[in-house]
Amino acid sequence: MIDTSKLTFLLPARMRSQIDAYFEALDVLLHVRDPKVLAAIGPSGVRGLLLHRGKQGVPTHMPASHQAHFDWTYPSDQPEMADLYRRAKEGQWNGDSLPWNTNVDPLSTEVRLLPERFVDFARLEQHGIRLTPVEKQKVLHSMTSWMLSQFLHGEQGALFAAAQVTEAVQFFDGKLYGATQVMDEGRHVEVFNRYLDTKLNKLYQINDNLFVIIDSLMTDGRWDMKFLGMQIMVEGLALGAFSTLHRQTEEPLLKNLLKMVIQDEARHVHYGVCALREHFTKHLSERERHEREDWAFEVALLMRNRFMAYELYEEWFEGRLTRQQWRDFVTHSPGMTEFRTVMFSRLVPNLREIGLLSPRVMKRYDEVGLMKYFGGLAADKLTAEQLLQAA
Ligand SMILES: [Fe+2]
Ligand SMILES: [Fe+2]
Repeated sequence: MIDTSKLTFLLPARMRSQIDAYFEALDVLLHVRDPKVLAAIGPSGVRGLLLHRGKQGVPTHMPASHQAHFDWTYPSDQPEMADLYRRAKEGQWNGDSLPWNTNVDPLSTEVRLLPERFVDFARLEQHGIRLTPVEKQKVLHSMTSWMLSQFLHGEQGALFAAAQVTEAVQFFDGKLYGATQVMDEGRHVEVFNRYLDTKLNKLYQINDNLFVIIDSLMTDGRWDMKFLGMQIMVEGLALGAFSTLHRQTEEPLLKNLLKMVIQDEARHVHYGVCALREHFTKHLSERERHEREDWAFEVALLMRNRFMAYELYEEWFEGRLTRQQWRDFVTHSPGMTEFRTVMFSRLVPNLREIGLLSPRVMKRYDEVGLMKYFGGLAADKLTAEQLLQAA
């Protein structure tokens, strides 16, 4: 990507940041090779990255154009999904029963939301930014709130996507299972929102890159694209992020909340792998599969490169660091590095398992350093307990 700081150093900081953001958006869109993938992601990219539709302070309306698939014969067609449905019914829990009376002090150094080593404060000092111990705690509080806010926005997307997929999917056992996922996602919205609202007292706007992905899959009429986007990409990565945070935080209520959510999410990703493996390997032409393969790669890149917490940058460091310096800082922060490693070690094996990591695209994954995760276990082979332990 072009380093715009050399071209714009005479401009005010706010304007410099905006120009850098436009170049970054352009970089995302110009980089897409497949014209069909560009047609699918491009309009969402314009709405999210250039128009900042998620940040306008008004409700966002996205046209949904999928077809509802009815089956009046009620077949038992997918034993693996029927089993997930049974387990999901037994695994329901009530968000009210979490220990909400726990006293959470976001600035406590006794019970830390995040360990100090999560962020590389020494790197900030290289840029002349020396934070006091209290300021460091405030940055970590902001970082935790930012991550949980993005989880919450992702959960709202998951709630609507799960409802759409439940209508559109052709497997009847999948529809019954899907009903439990809608309930699960509703509960996740409830608990993340309640934690942010009553314990951290801070909510960040949706990150533009996450908006692009949600917009793209909500407005795509093909159920399998919704599925791929939500169940495999967003949820797969969220599962990795939840487990990293679950391991890092010392705050008992958050730990408890994440543990419960992880158990639900493990089923969701398992369902995604199970449904898409069947569909991609048996029902799609080679051309259609290639398109999905390319789409998944672009979304993986959006996630890998672009999840840069700019909302935090604008709050804390705009004017003191350039966006390029901030990107370097986030990329090299130990906590974020661990995040990326865990996230992609979850995602890449799932892509392999559903047939979207053929030799045709391996080279591209290799070029961006993601092939090292190829051999891991996919979601249908991992239990929630293993996920929690691995975290
Ligand atoms: Fe969820
Ligand atoms: Fe989910």
